[in-house]
Amino acid sequence: MNSYSIKELLNKQPIGDNVEINGWVKTFRSNRFIALNDGSTIHNLQCVVDFENFDDNLLKQISTGAALKISGTLVESQGKGQSIEIQATNVFVHGTADPETYPIQPKKHSLEFLREKAHLRVRTNTFSAVMRVRSALAFAIHSYFQQNGFYYMHAPIVTGSDAEGAGEMFRVSTLDTKNPPLDENGEVDYSQDFFGKETNLTVSGQLEAETYAMGLGKVYTFGPTFRAENSNTSRHLAEFWMIEPEMAFYDLDANMDLTEDFIKWTIQYVLDNCQDDLEFLEKRLLDEEKSKPQIERSEMPLIEKLKFIVENNFKRVTYTEAIDILKNSKPNKKKKFKFPINEWGADLQSEHERFLVEKHFKCPVILFDYPAKIKAFYMRLNEDGKTVRAMDVLFPGIGEIVGGSQREERLDVLQQKIKELNIDEKELWWYLDLRRFGTAVHSGFGLGFERLVQFATGMGNIRDVIPYPRTPQNAEF
Ligand code: 4AD
Ligand code: MG
Repeated sequence: MNSYSIKELLNKQPIGDNVEINGWVKTFRSNRFIALNDGSTIHNLQCVVDFENFDDNLLKQISTGAALKISGTLVESQGKGQSIEIQATNVFVHGTADPETYPIQPKKHSLEFLREKAHLRVRTNTFSAVMRVRSALAFAIHSYFQQNGFYYMHAPIVTGSDAEGAGEMFRVSTLDTKNPPLDENGEVDYSQDFFGKETNLTVSGQLEAETYAMGLGKVYTFGPTFRAENSNTSRHLAEFWMIEPEMAFYDLDANMDLTEDFIKWTIQYVLDNCQDDLEFLEKRLLDEEKSKPQIERSEMPLIEKLKFIVENNFKRVTYTEAIDILKNSKPNKKKKFKFPINEWGADLQSEHERFLVEKHFKCPVILFDYPAKIKAFYMRLNEDGKTVRAMDVLFPGIGEIVGGSQREERLDVLQQKIKELNIDEKELWWYLDLRRFGTAVHSGFGLGFERLVQFATGMGNIRDVIPYPRTPQNAEF
C-alpha cells in the first residue's frame, strides 16, 4: 500500500494500484461520494464508499471537516469533474467534525466571517490557495537572491533605533507598567529596563542591513517588521513581513533595475508554479466582480494581469513630473481628490498613486527623486539640494509596494541632516561609522511581502493574505 498526497496521486495517476490518502472531508453527497482534500493542492479527490459494506457507525461520522484516512483502489472516474477516484476498501476516522458546530460548511462564507475563524479558514479553497501562493512567493524571493549573489542576513527584531524616523514603534520593556522606576526628572528610567535603554520592535532592518552590505557586498533581509500606526486600511498591518535587499556600489538606477527584475522574476515563478491556485483565484475574482458595479470592476483577469507585469517595463517618472500630471489631472481640477494637489512638495496619498498607475500610465510606475522633506533621513541628497534619491514602486490595485533609495554615503551631509531633524547622533554612532570607514555609494529597497501576495492572488484585503493578521484592536489567535 502506498500513501500519497492528493497532488502526487493526481500527477502520477497509478490506475489499478492500492493507495492510501489522508485528508479532510470537503463534501459528502448521496451517502456515497466523499470529496477529500489534504491541502497539497486545490483539487479534491473523490472517494466512493459503499457504506453497506462497512460498520453501521461509520456513516454517522462522515461530515464536512472530518479527518479521514481512506484506502482502496485507484480507478478512472465514471463521474464528471474528476479523472480519477478511489474505490474505498477501508475508511479510518481520525476525527469527526460536528455539523452543528463546525463553522466551515460547504457554502460561500464571507471573508469577514472567515477572519473570525482564522484558525480554520485555511481549510477553505480560497485560503488554502492564497497560502500556497504565499509560500511559493517566499521561496521565489529566496531563490532569486541566492541565485544572484546575495547573502541572507538576519536583522534584529528588538532594536534601539527608529530606522524610518516615523516614531510608530512598539515598545519592548520588562518594567512594571504600574510602577516604573523614575529618574530625577520624573521620567521613566529605561536604564533600569531589560536592555538598559529604550528598545522597540523593529520597523525595518535596513540600517543593520546597510552595515552588512558594506562588508558582504549584497545582502537581503526577509523578516517580520512592526508598525504601531493606527491605520485601519486594506493595505496596512501592524506586523508584516518585509524583504530588504541592500547593495554596496549600487546607485539609484541600478537599484531600480534590480527592483524591477526581482519583482518580475518572483511573479513569473508563481505563474510557472502555482497555475492551479491562480486559476482558482482568478475564477473567484471573476465571480466576485459580477456582483460589483461596472466601474469598480478590474480590467484584466488575474493571470493576464500578472503576465502584463512580467512583460511590460515599469514606467520611471520623477516626483516633479508626477506632480505636474496630478496638478493638471481631471480629478484634481474637478476637486475629486480628498487631498488636492496644489504645489510641489505635497506628500502623495494613495488616491494620487492609484490615479497615476491605474488611470494615467496604466502600468506599474517607479516614482523617484522625491522632495527631501517628505522622505527619511538616510536618503542621498541630489545636487539641487531639495530632492533625494528615493524611489517608490506603485502597483495597480495596491499603490506603494516598494520603497527604496540610494543612501547618503557622505558623512558631513548625513550629520547635517541628522542635526536638522533633531535626531540624537549618539544613537546612530555605528551607522555614521559606515561613513567614516570605507564609505561608498550604496542602495536598497523594502518590499512589503503581504502587498506582493495581495497582488499575486488578487485579494482585496491584506488581512486575508497573512495567517494571523495583527491590526489595531486585533491580536486574536
Ligand atoms: O516604504 P517603507 O516604510 O520603507 C522602509 O521601511 C525602508 N527602510 C525600506 C528600505 O529601503 N530598505 O516600507 C517598505 C514597504 C512599503 O513599500 C510597503 O510595501 C510595505 O513595506 N509596508 C507595509 N506593508 C504592510 N503594512 C504596513 N503597515 C506597511 N508599511 C510599509
Ligand atoms: Mg514608503
